[in-house]
Parts: sequence; structure tokens; C-alpha cells
Amino acid sequence: MCGIVGYVGDGKASDFLIEGLRRLEYRGYDSSGIAVFENGKIEIKKKQGRLINLENLIKEMPVSGHIGIGHTRWATHGKPSDINAHPHGDSHNRFVVVHNGIIENYMELKKKLIQKGHTFKSETDTEVVAHLAEDLDDGDFLSTIKKVLSVIDGSYSLVFMDAEQPDTLICTKKDNPLIIGLGEKENFIASDIPAVINYTRRIYILNDGEIAVVKKDSVHVYDADGLPVSKKVQEITWSAEAAEKNGYPHFMMKEIYEQPKAIYDTIHIHLTKDGEVKFDNLNWTKNSLESIDNILITACGTAYHAGLVAKHYIEQFTKIPVQVEIASEYRYSKPLTTARTLCIVVSQSGETIDTLAALKEAKRLGAQSIAITNSIGSSIARESDAAIYTLAGPEIAVASTKAYTTQLVILLLLSLYMGQLKETISKELVHHMVEEFKVLPKQIEKVLTENKHMEKVAQRFIQAEDIFYLGRSIDYAIAMEGALKLKEISYIHAEAYAAGELKHGTLALITPDTPIIAVATQEEVMAKMYSNIEEVRARGAEVLGIGYDDDAELEKYTTEIVKIPRVDEFISPILSVIPMQLLAYYTGIKKGNDVDKPRNLAKSVTVE
Ligand code: G6P
Repeated sequence: MCGIVGYVGDGKASDFLIEGLRRLEYRGYDSSGIAVFENGKIEIKKKQGRLINLENLIKEMPVSGHIGIGHTRWATHGKPSDINAHPHGDSHNRFVVVHNGIIENYMELKKKLIQKGHTFKSETDTEVVAHLAEDLDDGDFLSTIKKVLSVIDGSYSLVFMDAEQPDTLICTKKDNPLIIGLGEKENFIASDIPAVINYTRRIYILNDGEIAVVKKDSVHVYDADGLPVSKKVQEITWSAEAAEKNGYPHFMMKEIYEQPKAIYDTIHIHLTKDGEVKFDNLNWTKNSLESIDNILITACGTAYHAGLVAKHYIEQFTKIPVQVEIASEYRYSKPLTTARTLCIVVSQSGETIDTLAALKEAKRLGAQSIAITNSIGSSIARESDAAIYTLAGPEIAVASTKAYTTQLVILLLLSLYMGQLKETISKELVHHMVEEFKVLPKQIEKVLTENKHMEKVAQRFIQAEDIFYLGRSIDYAIAMEGALKLKEISYIHAEAYAAGELKHGTLALITPDTPIIAVATQEEVMAKMYSNIEEVRARGAEVLGIGYDDDAELEKYTTEIVKIPRVDEFISPILSVIPMQLLAYYTGIKKGNDVDKPRNLAKSVTVE
């Protein structure tokens, strides 16, 4: 979603603002802008399109002030345009603001402001916020902003400038992320850590309702009641290089290749010396797990697909029924969640507002909750009773890869842990899975050697208008993720189908021009899967099989196969998805698409 930055200090504000925006570009990128105080007033520069357009504008008309704010926009209210780009100012550019989120009551506020004589330039909800500050101005910057916050509804992170107080930025947040980077004689504001990492490793993470008054030498944070808050400084542990491309042509490729390490990092802290699984921060016991009747997994996009795989894991290992719900649907489904429900939310960013809202609803209905997220201290991590982290490192490409496979790893470990505690699985099974986990990073490295092969397949697939991904059981859940990857990156229509269901209607679409990807790793349904492959081959379709390297049968049924090493069937999804990630990547590249920033999509979606 939108990216926000702010700077106050001895340096040239525009240097950090542009650099920070570049690092946040993955959040939203249909326009961008900055506001800098100079020559006694706030100068606003903004431009539709990629950041380079704004950079060119600033090269022509440089700004040299020492305090400013910036924004990359992902349009919600009003089309992408220079005028709708942020920052937005009031009638006289006295108060200037950048915003991420949605002001839900902006229509009625705008109407009232227009009646009072305010004139609006843009179609955005955000501009209302600047005009409100002008309207409610009582001569004190902080008190004025508090008044603004008392009348706006919705979700937001906001950073304000006041031309009358050109040494101060005020920022706040509700249901949208915001951090403050602490420097020497300079301080930074950003929606996400990568924006500040080259400048400081010490940050404050703002909580909902907190307001920060940020000056060059000080940061004072107040809670919603106006009382001072003593914030804990968080140290960023990952390196600046982790948020760089490191020689890879795209973040997506880099992140695909980081999977062996990300998975190793995520796994090893959960294995005991005795070959069991541990989660140190979960104070579960056999008894406490007995009180759980059902499990709800709720998430969006790729994280939802991880939940679909986890249903198989948890039901098999714990015998507890699992319901997997798309977060944006859950809240409105009149859920039957109770105090005997365990709600597991999965979210790479920890900030997806649909997921956060579903979590809040499950909690309201009495559920216990845990978050699986890649983002320490994120809203979803904080809102849950406990948080478990995927240690994937920063994921910048919009299409999720390493976050997804680390989610699968955590979900599998967690299911084993629950089974271990409930004694619904044998010690031998746990030991066997732990051994499998230990060799998993190496197995992933083997699958990555299919890189060139997938590039060749992509060359053929770029012609296709529709591609079907088939699988049964866990392989169907993985097929869904494979199809999503292809859609996101290549813009080719792709659909995942339960292989056995195809004949009940959709088989009508299969022709020699419809390539099929068939994932076949689950022994119990293997024979049936072969028959389903025969059905599409009989309609002339080319079939790319993804299966074990020792499965000679699969080779007979398909046009071509991609081999993964023989692993336990619960581990196989973590391997079989990788060729599909590579295929999506190369198909996107060959079609000339911007694979790291696919059209219309944003990495972290903080609107409903
Ligand atoms: C967006 C991204 C997807 C992601 C989904 C959920 O739609 O484009 O790649 O899977 O949000 O994100 P989360 O951060 O909650 O995992």
C-alpha cells in the first residue's frame, strides 16, 4: 500500500525522502510526492507514475530544506494523477499531510468544510485531513492534530507538517504501520523499516492511537489520552544488504534463492536436541489443547494458501477440525467461532487490514489467537495472544515466495508440536519429520537447479491465454499458490483445480492450447491423479508434471516433468511450489513485466 516517509535534521530532507521512498516503492507506486519547508513556506512537489518522474522533477527544481515528508501512492480515492498524489495541503499549505489508509467519513467532513468555504483540489479522502487541521487550528500544532484525530474515522498512518512550526513533524497511526528511526541530530519517519535502515538501526514502533512529536533532537510520544509514553527502542538486527538486490536482477529472484537460508533460520530454533519440536513462547499443555474444539485459519492471498496446506497438517496430526477462511470473507460469514476456537492468522507483513479485522472479530467472539508473521512488532503480532515468526528476512517483491515457504514450515512444525503435546502422533513420526527438516535446505537447493529448465518452459507458456494447475489433496492447495504466482507476475489467466473436479464442468475449456501443470506428490491419490492427467491429455493438452525424481510412472503420463527430491509427503509442498515460483518469474520476465512490482498490486494491503 502507500509508503510514507518523514525527515527532520541537519541533512537535506529531500535526500532521505527520495531514498526512503525508493525503498518503499514496493508498497504502492502509481504516483509520489514530497513536501519540504524552505524559504518560509512548504514546497510540494508531486508527480504521477514511477518515482523516477518525481526525481526528475526535483532535479529540475531542487529543494534544499531540512524538514519534509514524502509519499508513494496506491490509489484508493481518485485516479492516479499529479493532483491526487500526496502530500496534500490545506487552502494555504499551512498544514500539509501524507496518509496511508482510508478516512471513511471523508465525504461528510468534506461537505461541511466546503460549506465553510474550503476549496478542494483533489479527489482524495486525505485532503480533508489537511483542511480539517486548518479549520480546527487553535494555535498549538499538537492540540490541533488531536482535534483532527477526534473527528476522523477509518484507518490511517499520518504525518503532518505545520508551516508555522517548521522544526516539528507530528505523526500518528491507527491500523496502519508507522515507525520512527532515531538518528544523531536527525530523526526519520517511515511506514516500514527498509526506508530507514541505511540511516539508523534504532527505531520506535508506534502503537495505534499514539502521537509522536518529532524534532531534530527529540521524539516525544503520547498515548491517545495525551499522556507521555516511554517507548522501548527496538534494534534492527537484519543487515542493509538484506533489503538490497545483492546482484540479482530482481528481488523476486533473490528471494526465491534465499529460501534455503530462510527455511534453515526458521526451522532450527524450533528443534530440540532430542529430535522433538518446541515453541518456547507458547505456554500450551496437553490440557490447554484439550480445550480447543476447532481451529480457524484466516489470511489473505498467498498466506491464505499456506493456511489451506496447514489444514491437512493440523487435521492429520491433531485430529482437530480446521476451517480455513479468506480474511475479508470471515467477518461477514456470521462465524461460529467460540472460546473453544483457536484462531491462527497468517500474514507476511503483519499489517494486512483484512487479516487484522478478522483476527479482531475472532477475538471478540472469544477465540484464542496466534499470529504467524514475518514482521516483528507488526499490528497482527501485537493484536494476537502470541506471535510466531517466520525468519524469512525482508521480502520486497510483491509476489510472496520465501515468506510462503517459511509459513509452510512454521505451520508444519506447529502442527507437529500440537500433535506431540496432545499425543495424537507417535514420537517416531516427530523424530522422522525432524530428520526431514534438517535436510530440507539442501533439498531446496536441489530444486533450485531446475532454474534453467523452468526458463525454457516459460518460453513456451508465454503464448498461452489460460493455464490450469491441477492437484489433489495437499497438491491442490499448492496448485492454488502456483496459479496465483503466475497471475500476479505474468498476467496470464491461471486457475487451480482439484484434479478430480475438472471433469464436472471445467474440462470443457481444455484444448491443445491450454497448458496444464499437474502436481503429483501424494501417494494416496497418485493413481487417481494419473487418470486425471490422462483426461486432459486426451483433449490434446500439454502437461508439465511436478513430481518425485524417482517416480518413473509420472513421466509416462505427462509431456515433460520437473523433478523434486523424494521427501516426506508433508514436506513435498515446500519443494513443489519452487518450480512454480520460477515459472511465474520467467514468464513475467519474458513478457516484459515488472516482476517485482506487478501492475495494480501492492505488497501490503492496508485497506479493506
Ligand atoms: C497482498 C499481496 C499478496 C499477499 C497478501 C497478504 O495482496 O500482494 O502477495 O499474499 O497481500 O499479505 P500478508 O502480508 O498478510 O501475508
